[in-house]
Amino acid sequence: MTATAPQSAGSANKEGTPFGFDIQDIELAKSGKAKIDWAQNQVPVLKAIRARFEKEQPLKGYRVAACLHVTTETAHLMITLKAGGAEIALCASNPLSTQDDIAASLVKDFGISVFAIRGEDTDTYYDHVNSALSISPHVTMDDGADLVSSVHKNPEKYGKDIIGGTEETTTGVIRLKSLAAEGKLSFPVISVNDADTKHLFDNRYGTGQSTIDGIIRATNQLIAGTTFVVLGYGWCGKGLAQRARGLGAQVVVTEVDPIKGLEAVMDGYQVMPIQEAAKIGDIFVSVTGNTSVIREEHFKVMKDNALVANSGHFDVELDLKALEKLSKSDVFARNGIHQFVMEDGRKINLLGEGRLVNLACAEGHPPGVMDMSFANQALSCEYLLKEGSNMKTDVYPVPRIIDERIAAIKLEGLGVNIDELTAEQKKYLASWEIGT
Ligand code: ADE
Repeated sequence: MTATAPQSAGSANKEGTPFGFDIQDIELAKSGKAKIDWAQNQVPVLKAIRARFEKEQPLKGYRVAACLHVTTETAHLMITLKAGGAEIALCASNPLSTQDDIAASLVKDFGISVFAIRGEDTDTYYDHVNSALSISPHVTMDDGADLVSSVHKNPEKYGKDIIGGTEETTTGVIRLKSLAAEGKLSFPVISVNDADTKHLFDNRYGTGQSTIDGIIRATNQLIAGTTFVVLGYGWCGKGLAQRARGLGAQVVVTEVDPIKGLEAVMDGYQVMPIQEAAKIGDIFVSVTGNTSVIREEHFKVMKDNALVANSGHFDVELDLKALEKLSKSDVFARNGIHQFVMEDGRKINLLGEGRLVNLACAEGHPPGVMDMSFANQALSCEYLLKEGSNMKTDVYPVPRIIDERIAAIKLEGLGVNIDELTAEQKKYLASWEIGT
């Protein structure tokens, strides 16, 4: 069921959302609320920020348009922003990642406007992006830069109140940097992805665990003893390779960057070109952020029953047109798996339609890691509202002080203490004179 049509900015509807909503089914709210409650004790940093935001109201009077995966973890971020006084419209950053029960609970239990339905087609996806932008936001909060890109295609309509934006992911940052390099970026954007408390944890441990989670939920397959091919050895690839090895797989890494390739060798993995890996792999996962990584020539030599998945942001990493072209039929094997039967009888199993397998076939990164990513989002949003008018139109890192504060609160939440520098050590580090 699609709920009420989006309403115009500022008008409250009967669920108490400021800008209306468009979701699958409001009756799913109970299940969504239970998941949001369950995650509560895994997000200590967001909880601490929420408590301060409630008192200080730093976002009061500001509108935030967010285009993020609509998940339990995102719900905690939205609730935190609302506690700080923001009015929010949330749309999905991927057609297949929305958790419909979470969307329902955000609307019903928290009065937040959501425009997202799992499985929506491309037109609906962009209608929802436009609904979020129709609130004329002061801040855009992106995961993949679809809001920023849409604003830049229609600046008069959507861009007039924007102070700045935040970006969650590597792929989005690449898009923003190319916009900035062409001199076309029209407001400052903070790259949340570049914070240490984001990519060192979310990309590595989040993608590592949740990608394996998606593969196991979709296939129920034993990982031990398989040859597991990781395409791309950035932070996501590193995390994934580590977790696949932990489960007993023989891990093969493919790379185009000689430094990352060398790193993978020294980390103890087999490194080879995709064409060779394609012949020996049982499970293939792309995490490159690039396009057409697994192509026709690779599908042609894969073993019977190979599993192929993507955990990079967009669904362009696997050349699905080539896979379709090579196959004589495509059957639904089980939830989340399309089985392509090749002309020669080999079967290749595609997981999650080639979209982010961790979100399409599981629940994405767990709350314990999104806590830090989304703390960076909340604090970057607050920072932009304070400082945005003094910032140039460029892509900025998260201020180091925010990054360090998030790590400190997280350690506290985990009950872990660390040491402090002594006065002598501080002096030593500040000196260029003291040698051996
Ligand atoms: N990206 C990866 N996992 C996520 C999650 N659980 N929620 C929101 N965005 C994510």
